[in-house]
Amino acid sequence: MGSVTETKFEVLNDELASKIDKILSENAYDSTKLVGILLDVQDVVPKKYVPMDVAAYVAAKLNIPLTGVYDVITFYASLSEKPRADHVINLCKSIVCKTNNYMDLQKSLEKFLGIKVGEATEDGKFALEYSACFGACDVAPAIKIDQDVYGKLTDEKLIEIINSYR
Ligand code: FES
Repeated sequence: MGSVTETKFEVLNDELASKIDKILSENAYDSTKLVGILLDVQDVVPKKYVPMDVAAYVAAKLNIPLTGVYDVITFYASLSEKPRADHVINLCKSIVCKTNNYMDLQKSLEKFLGIKVGEATEDGKFALEYSACFGACDVAPAIKIDQDVYGKLTDEKLIEIINSYR
């Protein structure tokens, strides 16, 4: 793994750097908030991942080793160092969603998207992933598409919502 100066900047451009700067500033450049920072950063990167040059940029700005950033990326399932999709659909399978039949919702999602959990659609539009509880237990079973939360879904509503991201 190279140092910041050795890293080829392939994804990072001025526009993305300014979005990342804003996230870092909102978090007071506090490296103890690295997980939250990386989740927010990942969300502004096309295909929802943390590329090498972005990881190096964050590490340099927080004045921490690049390996520390990668330790976090590899530890948290919600973070990815590989391109995922334009939109990531997180299906909660924590206890409340589990007891509210998240499997039915999973079946509908897999059928409608034509993929299984852990896969992405061929057009690169959607990735479907499991998630831990994200605090929407009152509308369980719940999904999160990027940062938007939806719950208590009928099949019709689900299709309508997914089509709104196309
Ligand atoms: S248990 Fe699913 S959102 Fe909380």
